[in-house]
Amino acid sequence: MLKLNSAIQNRRSPRAIAEKSVTNEMIALLFEAARWAPSAMNEQPWKYFWVHRNSKNKFDEVLNLLTGINSLWVENAQAIIISVARKNYEYNNKLNRNALHDTDAANFSIAVQATEMGLQVRQMGGYDREKAAAYFKLDTEKYELATFIAVGFPGENRPQTEELLQRKRQSESRKNPKDFVFEMKDE
Ligand SMILES: Cc1cc2nc3c(=O)[nH]c(=O)nc-3n(C[C@H](O)[C@H](O)[C@H](O)COP(=O)(O)O)c2cc1C
Repeated sequence: MLKLNSAIQNRRSPRAIAEKSVTNEMIALLFEAARWAPSAMNEQPWKYFWVHRNSKNKFDEVLNLLTGINSLWVENAQAIIISVARKNYEYNNKLNRNALHDTDAANFSIAVQATEMGLQVRQMGGYDREKAAAYFKLDTEKYELATFIAVGFPGENRPQTEELLQRKRQSESRKNPKDFVFEMKDE
């Protein structure tokens, strides 16, 4: 019987992260997964900064760039990855309209590989963009921040407030393919 790829089926953004350590070797494998993602002209426009929880000062500085509820999700995160897209093609310096798209393909490879390893990742677009660009000394003419990615093993569920339950319901719902897939057929 045809069935969905299990890492795609099981991937979820963590709602709580365990204290269990994530090794540098595991993180390296996540980046190996990013490395094999497809990209326009094989440009591989993604760049990653990352920080392990063990580098406490830098880790806290990065956490401080997050906004809203994201500080809750990263409690116990073992590493934070920051994904960045190079805006122009390297070979001709012209605008690469696929740069963010391709960076997200690499991020999704990371998510799938993480799932395969029993890990979870949460991508986060909720961070202070200006502060983050300054913190990473990014030339914003050339680079665009994509998402911050929290990495860890799934943790025990925390007590659920109404807001968290609402977010959980929101995360679990999926559109039906009939609402976003349109087959074109010959008459
Ligand atoms: C580009 C992007 C940005 C996101 N930003 C945030 C964020 O700032 N905060 C957050 O809690 N989740 C964020 N998410 C996670 C989504 O909320 C989550 O993927 C969605 O609710 C589906 O849940 P699931 O990943 O568990 O299947 C982001 C996901 C993506 C792909």
